[in-house]
Amino acid sequence: MKNVLVTGGCGFIGSNFVQFVLSQLKDCRLVNLDKLTYAGNLKNLVEIEDDPCYRFVQGDICDADLVNQLFADEQIDTVVHFAAESHVDRSISGPAAFIQTNIGGTFTLLEAARNAWNGSFEGKRFLHVSTDEVYGSLGDTGLFTETTAYDPRSPYSASKASSDHLVSAYYHTYGLPTLMTNCSNNYGPYHFPEKLIPLIINNALNGKDLPVYGDGKNVRDWLYVKDHCAAILAVLQKGEVGQTYNVGGNNEKQNIEIVQSICDILDQKVGLLPSGESRRSLIKFVTDRPGHDRRYAIDASKIKNQLGWEPSVTFEEGILMTVDWYLANPEWVASVVDGSYREYYQQQYGEEV
Ligand code: NAD
Ligand code: DAU
Repeated sequence: MKNVLVTGGCGFIGSNFVQFVLSQLKDCRLVNLDKLTYAGNLKNLVEIEDDPCYRFVQGDICDADLVNQLFADEQIDTVVHFAAESHVDRSISGPAAFIQTNIGGTFTLLEAARNAWNGSFEGKRFLHVSTDEVYGSLGDTGLFTETTAYDPRSPYSASKASSDHLVSAYYHTYGLPTLMTNCSNNYGPYHFPEKLIPLIINNALNGKDLPVYGDGKNVRDWLYVKDHCAAILAVLQKGEVGQTYNVGGNNEKQNIEIVQSICDILDQKVGLLPSGESRRSLIKFVTDRPGHDRRYAIDASKIKNQLGWEPSVTFEEGILMTVDWYLANPEWVASVVDGSYREYYQQQYGEEV
């Protein structure tokens, strides 16, 4: 692992990963290819932008000429592929970009790796970062394992499932040294406030409605983002090529529990609302997400038993660190809650943010 191509390194998990790797490893070069969509932000990486081990390239993973050139110029031996359209609600209102980037972009990267490495796979690795959403929706019991049948139910998860199948096909057909991680819901610093946790923190701070879809009892398995980064590094360094590793937080929570706990933390840290009420009074049950998956829960025993990885941060610790990060970084929040976010919010929730 000398010359690493990170795609989508200016997004939420990618930027945490770039910072994490540069703090952990001294002998590798990171090239970050990111299109800077609404979800990508150079501010996420200001602290390391001058690091001699780091280079940023603005570009699209669907641009085959650019990707081929990067493989050649940078002698890429490792790919960590985060770049994607990642928000389920946006995939419902506009699926085309998901098909293009998540499927077409992954295909372009796989082809570039196949051509550049040309059958010489010693020391090469292509890690595809995927999601537990490809497995569909669980009932009240059971866990997703690496052999659970795929059953994606949103345009987002269908596009990720398609990309997973392409990755698997390149391993079986061409012997490309692929690895795959399927992870549960992340949370932490630099999370864009279209997703549940940062949206609730931002709205609750500003005394705005807290939109909860349906009955609020859908369950997600939350993992602190730094733990996901550590899992990806463990898979890169110790994983077996051709294998998939599920990554999860062992931490199932109903959405309403998450929203209530953020309200309580903020009430305690910044005081009650001017009306004297708790932020829980801002909770508003709204129309459910179409095709809303009921429950996700990961069995992460394979990565624990085979690679020794397990979450190091409890939800109680992680959510406090996350709220503290948002309280300490109002200028970051202000810079991402811009015109296009306001437009999106109005369209999605039918009101101004
Ligand atoms: P994000 O939306 O925050 O970031 C995506 C990044 O990809 C952005 O920087 C964006 O500019 C970039 N990008 C988008 N299209 C691009 C293109 N065509 N070319 C180059 N760059 C492009 O996403 P995230 O939450 O950080 O997720 C990263 C990856 O992890 C995704 O593949 C997602 O499916 C997967 N994942 C996310 C979670 C989660 O909870 N957020 C959980 C499991 C897996
Ligand atoms: O499980 C991994 C996935 O987690 C990733 O692959 C996705 O990229 C990531 O966006 C996330 O998907 P979810 O749909 O689970 O995350 P989101 O934060 O959008 O929603 C979490 C839950 O909260 C979900 O049940 C829907 C609900 N929700 C979400 C929003 C934005 C609300 O109730 N209200 C909201 O306003």
